[in-house]
Amino acid sequence: MQNDHHKIALGVNIDHIALLREARRINNPELLQAVGVVAQNGADQITIHLREDRRHIQDEDVRRIITSSPLPINLECSIDPQMVEIALQMQPHRVTLVPEKREEVTTEGGLDVINSSALVSDAIEQLKSNHIEVSLFIDPDEHQVEHSCALEAQMIELHTGRYANIYAMLNSALAYSHHSIDELDLPRDELQVALKESLDDLTRSAKHASLLGLRVAAGHGLNYHNVSAMCAIDDIFELNIGQSIIARSIYTGLATAVEDMRKLVVR
Ligand code: PXP
Repeated sequence: MQNDHHKIALGVNIDHIALLREARRINNPELLQAVGVVAQNGADQITIHLREDRRHIQDEDVRRIITSSPLPINLECSIDPQMVEIALQMQPHRVTLVPEKREEVTTEGGLDVINSSALVSDAIEQLKSNHIEVSLFIDPDEHQVEHSCALEAQMIELHTGRYANIYAMLNSALAYSHHSIDELDLPRDELQVALKESLDDLTRSAKHASLLGLRVAAGHGLNYHNVSAMCAIDDIFELNIGQSIIARSIYTGLATAVEDMRKLVVR
């Protein structure tokens, strides 16, 4: 994958296509077809999340996608030793370790690599010794960044959810009803300050990680409106984007949805 400062890589997360398929438990839409369309329209990587409850991606999907994808596969999974064992057997190009709570709608907050240091360290050691690159999905926090480096991860992915939520509250008329975030009741001017702070946290964490020798990705909640500020952060070399692309594809088709995002993911 490219890592110069002119190109920023786009990973497309296709979990939500599998979610639609699981609504009927038949093989429609077919994920391999989606992988082909995503690959042909400018993505650099396919991201899939094998959740413990298997609500979208299934083990067999992971196997088939890894075997047939023309793009590298970034497999997200929890630090549960059973999940790590599956990841080891599947041999993706990269594993991104993420926190997981069964009751959550999506990944809320980054992995606390300080509090779960022993499990994270075991997972990193096993994956790396099987030639699988390891990334840690963490909040933009300097202690988490430093600990990720101490644990000898090769990469981090910064959680952009707080930035995305504040951006949505400031720029959309939609009420943000089901997200429990601290800023919910803030007046507009304070939301502007919170947005600036969230961007500063991401920029500072990306720089810090980069200086420590970690490669830096970012993702969660990014969409066609809020993505440009992420592209402006020099130390971020890759963005992983899912829900907004798949949602747009309902109206435009997947090829156009990926192509439209590709045009925005530049610097
Ligand atoms: N990166 C990570 C580590 C994720 O867990 C997710 C959501 O599964 C994404 C990126 C993509 O987030 P979204 O679907 O909100 O674009």
